Amino acid sequence: MPGIIIVGSQFGDEGKGKIVDYLVETLNIEHVARYQGGNNAGHTVVVKGEKFKLHNIPSGVIHGKVCMLGNGMVIDPDVLLSEIKGLQARGIDPKLIISPLAHVITQKHKDLDRKDTKIGTTKRGIGPAYADKISRTGMRVGELNNSELSKYIGDVSLKLNEALDKNKNVLFEGAQGTLLDIDHGTYPYVTSSNTIAGGACTGTGVSPKKIKLIIGVAKAYTTRVGSGPFPTELTDKTGDSLREKGAEFGTTTGRPRRCGWLDIPMLNYSVRVNGLDAFALTKIDVLSGLKELKICTAYEHNGKTLDSFPTDAKVLEKVKPVYEILSGWGDINLETWHNSTKWPKEIHNYIETIEKLTRTPISIISFGPGREDTFIRHKIKA
Ligand code: GDP
Ligand code: IMO
Ligand code: MG
Repeated sequence: MPGIIIVGSQFGDEGKGKIVDYLVETLNIEHVARYQGGNNAGHTVVVKGEKFKLHNIPSGVIHGKVCMLGNGMVIDPDVLLSEIKGLQARGIDPKLIISPLAHVITQKHKDLDRKDTKIGTTKRGIGPAYADKISRTGMRVGELNNSELSKYIGDVSLKLNEALDKNKNVLFEGAQGTLLDIDHGTYPYVTSSNTIAGGACTGTGVSPKKIKLIIGVAKAYTTRVGSGPFPTELTDKTGDSLREKGAEFGTTTGRPRRCGWLDIPMLNYSVRVNGLDAFALTKIDVLSGLKELKICTAYEHNGKTLDSFPTDAKVLEKVKPVYEILSGWGDINLETWHNSTKWPKEIHNYIETIEKLTRTPISIISFGPGREDTFIRHKIKA
């Protein structure tokens, strides 16, 4: 009964879509489920140079797997239907099961969200839809009169539990990231759902007892879209070069992403609140060519080193990052990336430093957007 959760360890856009697509094949997954969020998510999968941008449908869809949209999601029916049609036009007929308990994003929600000036939301109606859910005034997918959508509706909890009871692997695909969690993120600069691993259980109707493995996806540096504290943000040329080299522009809204150095206190917080077994480290290729790399190892506040991650966004806004400086490495060709014995020692050092500081293995290294641009350092077993 192995349930596997893939969760964002930072502020979203860590490369979850790519890692899910990769693991679906590697771990012989039959079912992939989204458990929260909606079309604020933009998950990119690149297969043989062809790019797929997914907003509601789990990234297992490209491999033709059964894709579930859990009760924890908020769904804009028009956007979902056009996503289905877009995939069909490219030869993929999604096998979908949508929970009737998921909530519907209506025009009213989108109109309200457009008025946001503080958070920098994606303006997809996410917050207002969740507000109606919690106020018990929302509409659920099961109440929709849409024959096109209703043919996909089914009991997601039942189907997932049946699969798990038959000892099939089920993958839970997180959206957004740990620091955008409504409770554990940088409130109020967060999204409106529980993005952390715990959300996979409440958002699908699966017991925590059935989860065997939790992998955090972490970018080799940090990015954030929208407002809110970002201790390691770079507003200089280095930040610009990360944005350019990493093509750091939002998948959903096209907004430039704020860029900064890797933040270990943040990753350690993510290890704690998600119970991460391992990391998948993505976009390490983007760091190639930088002379030196900085890793934030601690935060200082009012002259003192903090011994735990501050849960108050007002404190996080004021912390001073303490950096360890590491040597960079030059540009690497794809063949070299595939063979870790040929990596310059600085790459091993960067990876091993993160492992040491987070006491968490980095099992997967991603060095390009494509499915094949992936290196497994430790065998992943659910
Ligand atoms: P998600 O929301 O976590 O699924 O991430 P996004 O898809 O929004 O953003 C990640 C972006 O980086 C996408 O454009 C991916 O194609 C791309 N990407 C993923 N992994 C890598 C990598 O290892 N290297 C590079 N250069 N790009 C990557
Ligand atoms: P994926 O799944 C990055 C951010 C928005 C804003 C805040 C609240 O692709 O990683 P919302 O529209 O959810 O009310 O916006 O959250 N945000 C994301 N940032 N990746 C995402 O999703 C995001 N989804 C929402 O920019 O700061
Ligand atoms: Mg994204």
